[in-house]
Parts: sequence; structure tokens; C-alpha cells
Amino acid sequence: MKDFPFDISYPKSEHELDGTLKWQAPSNIAIIKYWGKHGRQLPNNPSLSLTLSQAYTETKFSYKGLPGSREVPKITFSFEGKENEKFAARIVSFITGILPYFPFLGGLDLRIESRNSFPHSSGIASSASSMAALVMCICDMEKEIFGLEHIDIKKASYFARLGSGSASRSIISEVGIWGYDQAVGGSTDEYSIQLENYDPVFSGFHDDILIISAGEKAVSSSAGHALMDGNIFARARYRQARNNLSKLILAMQKGDIHSFGKIAEDEALTLHALMMSSDPSYILMKPETLAVIEQIRAYRSDTGLPVFFTLDAGPNVHVLYPAFVKDEVGYFINNDLKKYTQNGKIIQDRVGQGPTKLF
Ligand code: DP6
Repeated sequence: MKDFPFDISYPKSEHELDGTLKWQAPSNIAIIKYWGKHGRQLPNNPSLSLTLSQAYTETKFSYKGLPGSREVPKITFSFEGKENEKFAARIVSFITGILPYFPFLGGLDLRIESRNSFPHSSGIASSASSMAALVMCICDMEKEIFGLEHIDIKKASYFARLGSGSASRSIISEVGIWGYDQAVGGSTDEYSIQLENYDPVFSGFHDDILIISAGEKAVSSSAGHALMDGNIFARARYRQARNNLSKLILAMQKGDIHSFGKIAEDEALTLHALMMSSDPSYILMKPETLAVIEQIRAYRSDTGLPVFFTLDAGPNVHVLYPAFVKDEVGYFINNDLKKYTQNGKIIQDRVGQGPTKLF
């Protein structure tokens, strides 16, 4: 705890602990990918993402004091209205891990109810939005019971990171950077910060998420990160990510959409190449993923319109484009890409402002 950068010596609360909070936190789509980590959830390279708005988790967090002194909280967790053992285990282990920093949670009965606006484990970063929503609830509770002026966003991002690396970026509005880079002032491996000074075209960027398969992934992100430790391309990859980050920031400052899109596609293909070159190797793309990629590249070369793809750790394709081509691209997606999706499922997302308090 000695390296912990935030103050935790709050006065004891005199309030009766009984309340309910509800937060909504978005997913995010990484343009520069975080893939490989060390220590306690520290990234092997800096990453940059667009915070989304339509793919989100809503979390209701109720707390009540339990009679008698207890060191651990009693946690009940439900997902989409049902008990979910796998998620519950992750939440319990997360809350237990952060108890030294939030000791007031100790003697409480915590009821956590969570739902997503999108299918979980589908390659959309569900751990990002769910951990971000949960941490916002905990930080908000701390604010309420200790009468703090505001939620410290850096601190929220720090704890979201401990839950899931990419969650640290979901706390940030519009464009989040997680990981130290010497060219980005204020950047750190501990939490995410907001990119400053970029062309407004990126604030209005669209991300239509084509759900190719909503099934569970064969290899989780956590297992994928671990395989980077033995990947012979790892060092070159971390160097590439840093170079790509510098180029991307420059492109975003200049409003250079084509360079932005090129880097986004390179990063997506590298991510999947790293999976294919892991030992054991694995492939998360599906034939439809490749078909969509080819269609997007053909459409771009035929029309010259700025439409690009990126991929998360899964088969789904994120179609990225600026707002000023939304009519043409919307038509293209409906006519040429929708047929590759599972049951026509597309989440029409856009860059957004980060977590919102619902009550
Ligand atoms: C491919 O943040 O899900 O989406 O820290 O183990 O929870 P953990 O991993 P996670 O990894 C996300 C990987 C990625 C790229 C990215 O979001 O940067």
C-alpha cells in the first residue's frame, strides 16, 4: 500500500450506512491495443481508446450496515436479474482486494445488480464497463458518506484498472490513454487520463459494432495477456505500440482521419496476429470477420470514403467512421455487411462522455 498515490485517511463516518446508488458506465474501443501486462495489472505498453456511449453496463449498488463488527462485506451479485457465479466470484475477489483502500465496505451487506446493453463475453469489453460502473458506485458511496466534494476520476480509474485494465479507460470521457508514454504529459501506468487537444471530428466518431458471434470466447483476455509473456514477438510489439501511439496522437491532432484509420486497422490485425503467434496459438476471428474486413477495404478503395475497422479480442467487427459519412456508410452496412452478423445484430455506437450517475 506504500506506493498508493491517493489519500485514504478519511474520518470515520457518523452516518447510518444505508443507501442505494446506480451508475451507468460505457465500454470503450481500443485503437492502440493493450495486450500484455505485468505486476498488479500494469500494462506492457500504453493504449488509447474511444469511450463509447451505447454499449454500457448499468449497476445498482445497495449497501446497509450489518449488526456486529465484520471485516468482510456480505456480497450478493446478480447479472441480468439472475445469479451468476462466475461474475460473482470476480466481483467478490475484486472487492476483497480493494478493502484495505475502502475499509468502510467491511461490515456491510452489499447487493450489486448489474445489466449490460450488449451480449457479455462477445468481444465487446464487458469487463471494462462492468468494472467501471462498479468502481463508480464505490467511489460515489465514499463521496456520499464522507461528504467529499467530488469523485476523484484518477482514483476511480486506478481502481477500475485493478478490476480490468481496459476498465481504467472507461472512466474517461471521449479519448482515454492508459500507460506511461514520455510524449504524453501526465500519462501513467496507474490510471488513464484524457487525451487533450484533438480534432473535434473524433468526438463525433461512430463505431457500429457488428456482432458476428455473441458466444463466449474460447480464450479469455486474461489468458491472452498471459500468453504474451512467451510470445517471441512481444518486445517488437511493445515498441510498435509506442510508435503507433505517437503517430495516432499526431493524426488526431491534425484531424487526419485516414492515418487514424490506418493505425486502427494495423493495431487490430497485430492483436490477432499475436494470438495466432502465441503458444498455444489460437484464432478468435471467424470467416465472417474476414469477409467484413475485405468488404470494408473494397468499399473504401471504391468510394474513397473514410470507413475503417478495428477488432477487440473476439470475432466482432467495429466499423469506425466520422459522422459526416454516416448516411452513406449506414447504407453500406445495411446492404453489404449486415448479412454477416448473427441475427442482424449491430450496436450503433458513438464516442461518449464516460460514466453517468442514474440515481
Ligand atoms: C484486446 O482489459 O479485458 O480489448 O486487464 O485482464 O481484464 P484484463 O484484460 P482486458 O483486456 C483488453 C484487451 C483488448 C485491448 C484493449 O482494450 O486495449
